[in-house]
Amino acid sequence: MLVKIIYLLLLTAWAKEYDKAFDLLFTSNVKEFDEITVHFQKPLPTWLLNKKLIRIGAGCFGMGDRKFHHVFDGFGKMHIWNLKPNRTTFSAKFVRTRTFVDSEKRNTVSPLYTLFDDTVPRQSLIDRLRSLFNGPDNVNVNIVKFGDDYLAISDFWSKYVIDIDRGETLFRTSPDFLHRSIISRRIPLLSSSHPIQGVNIVTEINPFGLNYVHLVQIKSAREVVNLLSIPVDEAPYIHSFSLTSNYAIIVANPVSISISKLFETLNPSKSIIWRENGESDVYVVDLRTLQYRKYRTEGKFMLHHVNAFEYNDAIIFDTTTYKSFTLIHDYQLDTLRNSTVRNKITDLPSLKRYTIDLKSGIVKHKLLSNRRPYQGLEMPVINELYRFKSYCFIYGISFKSDNIQFSNVTLIKVDICGKGRDRIWELNGHIPSEPWFVHHPNRRAEDDGLLFSVISDGIRLRSYLAVFNATTLTLVNTSPTPTLVPMMFHGYHE
Ligand SMILES: *[C@@H]1O[C@H](CO)[C@@H](O)[C@H](O)[C@H]1NC(C)=O
Ligand SMILES: *[C@@H]1O[C@H](CO)[C@@H](O)[C@H](O)[C@H]1NC(C)=O
Ligand SMILES: *[C@@H]1O[C@H](CO)[C@@H](O)[C@H](O)[C@H]1NC(C)=O
Ligand SMILES: *[C@@H]1O[C@H](CO)[C@@H](O)[C@H](O)[C@H]1NC(C)=O
Ligand SMILES: [Fe+2]
Repeated sequence: MLVKIIYLLLLTAWAKEYDKAFDLLFTSNVKEFDEITVHFQKPLPTWLLNKKLIRIGAGCFGMGDRKFHHVFDGFGKMHIWNLKPNRTTFSAKFVRTRTFVDSEKRNTVSPLYTLFDDTVPRQSLIDRLRSLFNGPDNVNVNIVKFGDDYLAISDFWSKYVIDIDRGETLFRTSPDFLHRSIISRRIPLLSSSHPIQGVNIVTEINPFGLNYVHLVQIKSAREVVNLLSIPVDEAPYIHSFSLTSNYAIIVANPVSISISKLFETLNPSKSIIWRENGESDVYVVDLRTLQYRKYRTEGKFMLHHVNAFEYNDAIIFDTTTYKSFTLIHDYQLDTLRNSTVRNKITDLPSLKRYTIDLKSGIVKHKLLSNRRPYQGLEMPVINELYRFKSYCFIYGISFKSDNIQFSNVTLIKVDICGKGRDRIWELNGHIPSEPWFVHHPNRRAEDDGLLFSVISDGIRLRSYLAVFNATTLTLVNTSPTPTLVPMMFHGYHE
């Protein structure tokens, strides 16, 4: 009995610490930094020098009197580490989007641009109508290189060109590769936040005609080539897709944008519909001929495709999957900031492999790991040298690792080749974010490299950049950041 009480007391003490670390992620930080020197605990290996590491996410959750209701509306903020020969510099900057600049000027959330969800208090009806007319503008999901340009992007088509040395915002771009009517042009295009080697998909929602999923090649900030247009009945919401050497695999899950709901609610987050018991359409595009075929598989929501490759007459793709699309509610700030509410989140991800037999047309699927918390991996990253190839290791983070606290987040490595090389890093009160893998220049093995992750430390109430040995997942180096780093989604390194 006594042991149990002590255990429970300890558990509450821990809970407080990881809850604090979690809360830091959803706390606005308006401070900006321009190339200030930061220090690592130990010298970095020389092969890391001249690398740049960049993260983007939600840096600020409102402006003046108005707060955002959804984490996806957080103003995009970049964090850049520049590993120069004699010193590492750190910059933290907001993407100076039109909506951010206008919001700062007015000291309230700009009424000019479409938000993903409402503000608290809500904007007036006039403002919400007007904002819908101008379309979305905030970018906070990813930084991707196209040609010589670095773009800050989101799930909408508008993008900002960034100078990644110091995080300066250069200009907005929204290359128009479609010929749409004056009215259709007002409906924002959706695009995946996870392009692969310049290839991306764009969803066109049409109030009057067919909806399309376009496969595009983005050559630079201003140059886009439309490779193929696939007509679809419902306009799917697609966050990521898969590519192999010869094929693009675009999966339309039973989650779509309803234009009538958008007009009714004036709120994109309330216009996304999950079709209970619906199936997923799998479009496989042959990149050599630009012909496609459609297959079917189970109706899960696939958030992050991890990697894909060809194997004899089959295509294999791996992805994080959810039972449905409750994610949209789970990522409301009221949910994320309240431990009682967020601990009730049950639709946790499962890492799965789908195998499309091109001859028989059968799509098989299986779990890539049967063990928690490995099975629950999110924010997947791989050794990019293994893209399009058969591979063994996926790195990521796993929420609710203890099955109780959503804020109990671990850094994990899953060995999908099943040789028992799974690894985990967890530290009381320390919350890792999406890792990124930098391979050793000698490329001795797939997991020979270093893994970086920004950690939120709920004990000392600070953030730090952590470096892990990717083979063993042991912490080998740290560098405290001069400021708190809120919720980062994705990023880029070179
Ligand atoms: C780096 O440091 C070395 C010796 O400490 C010095 O000779 C060199 O000029 C420095 N390089 C730069 C780019 O500052
Ligand atoms: C968290 O949510 C619970 C359940 O809805 C509610 O009773 C509680 O007051 C909330 N806590 C805070 C700090 O808002
Ligand atoms: C998660 O819970 C486990 C088991 O209670 C604990 O060892 C670990 O430190 C916790 N993680 C965090 C990030 O606090
Ligand atoms: C990781 O640790 C292993 C075992 O100690 C070592 O052999 C390897 O070189 C380390 N990797 C890196 C990239 O430092
Ligand atoms: Fe993503």
